[in-house]
Amino acid sequence: MIIEPRMRGFICLTSHPKGCEQNVKNQIEYIKSKGPIEGAKKVLVIGASTGFGLASRITSAFGSDAATIGVFFEKPSAEGKTATPGWYNSAAFESEAHKAGLYAKSINGDAFSNEVKRETLDLIKADLGQVDLVIYSLASPVRTNPKTGVTHRSVLKPIGQTYTNKTVDFHTGKVSEVSIAPANEEDIVNTVEVMGGDDWAMWIEALKNENLLADGATTIAYSYIGPELTEAVYRKGTIGRAKDDLEATAFTITDSLKSIGGRAYVSVNKALVTQSSSAIPVVPLYISLLYKVMKEKGIHEGCIEQIHRLFKDRLYAETILTDEKGRIRIDDWEMREDVQAEVAKLWLETTTETLPAIGDLEGYRNDFLNLFGFELGGIDYKAEANEMVQVESIK
Ligand code: NAD
Ligand code: NA
Repeated sequence: MIIEPRMRGFICLTSHPKGCEQNVKNQIEYIKSKGPIEGAKKVLVIGASTGFGLASRITSAFGSDAATIGVFFEKPSAEGKTATPGWYNSAAFESEAHKAGLYAKSINGDAFSNEVKRETLDLIKADLGQVDLVIYSLASPVRTNPKTGVTHRSVLKPIGQTYTNKTVDFHTGKVSEVSIAPANEEDIVNTVEVMGGDDWAMWIEALKNENLLADGATTIAYSYIGPELTEAVYRKGTIGRAKDDLEATAFTITDSLKSIGGRAYVSVNKALVTQSSSAIPVVPLYISLLYKVMKEKGIHEGCIEQIHRLFKDRLYAETILTDEKGRIRIDDWEMREDVQAEVAKLWLETTTETLPAIGDLEGYRNDFLNLFGFELGGIDYKAEANEMVQVESIK
């Protein structure tokens, strides 16, 4: 069938298999062009199908020749319905990895569940023996805690008082004011349950208990801080509480890995257009101003550039630089004083009329459509595409 983008609110209901494949190939080419990284050889990526997780899988495989197991939650295609982009990305990744002679298998299911953890442990045991790097890159609005059976939903709300600021509908370009009422205690607990460190710790404990972590194994999860502009709704809001918890969990995991000399890290990454971040109010406007400023300064990066720099200059550098809280920072360019000062100035000037000139709304939209495999160079979108992509190594 001929596949076109079909939007509903912040999401796109369709995705293009050829475009997703092209996205993956572009990221692979980028990593190959940068030369090898002395990194891990057996890697588990939890949240491996899109965004930072996919970039981490590609960097491991094509930068360090690593065998990878990917865990994700995606929908395969059905009669007349396309798969989710993460499904096509993973199919493309696996086929490229296999062509390059690299081991790659995936498990499609709920990473929060005991069943998917069990399946993953068994696969590692059978095929790899142990892993030496575990990337934790889940972004989800909901988690059923397997210990309690309770389903928690995360929310994006400020804490303490109502937050009012500008926001943009990036489809129409309309700038308006949004007010978000403060969270209650339950909202905070729920968000920490979903996006905090509990599940990360459960994964590492399960792996360690079955001796599936190699000596000196490393695990890393991704966090965000961001500017003062979004602080009340992001870092000091409900999601920020979850990130505080995730960051604290790195220390308890490191303690638990003492006997094998393992370490847990959190890396603070740059704000980027992903399916998760486009759903956060105010953030898309911030990102469109940020992109404009960073592109003008020649320091713009996407997921693959960020993760390449994380691996090359931090994780597998001679010494791992961290901030005063023990976090790796690859949001260093985003947070530069000159960058933030310019964004803050543009923010005040932003209206529906000024935004097309002072912000990179085009870049935002383009990146958003790219996530679903649209608007990529080299793809004939008028041609029939076979949406029924099957891959044997995805369970
Ligand atoms: P994403 O939406 O692109 O990726 C999420 C991944 O999690 C996908 O592979 C998805 O399949 C998987 N997933 C979701 N629910 C799952 C479940 N129940 N079981 C198994 N897999 C599941 O998100 P992203 O933006 O790459 O975010 C990854 C991490 O990076 C998050 O912790 C996020 O907070 C952090 N981060 C994001 C940004 C940003 O601007 N996007 C910036 C800094 C840090
Ligand atoms: Na991810």
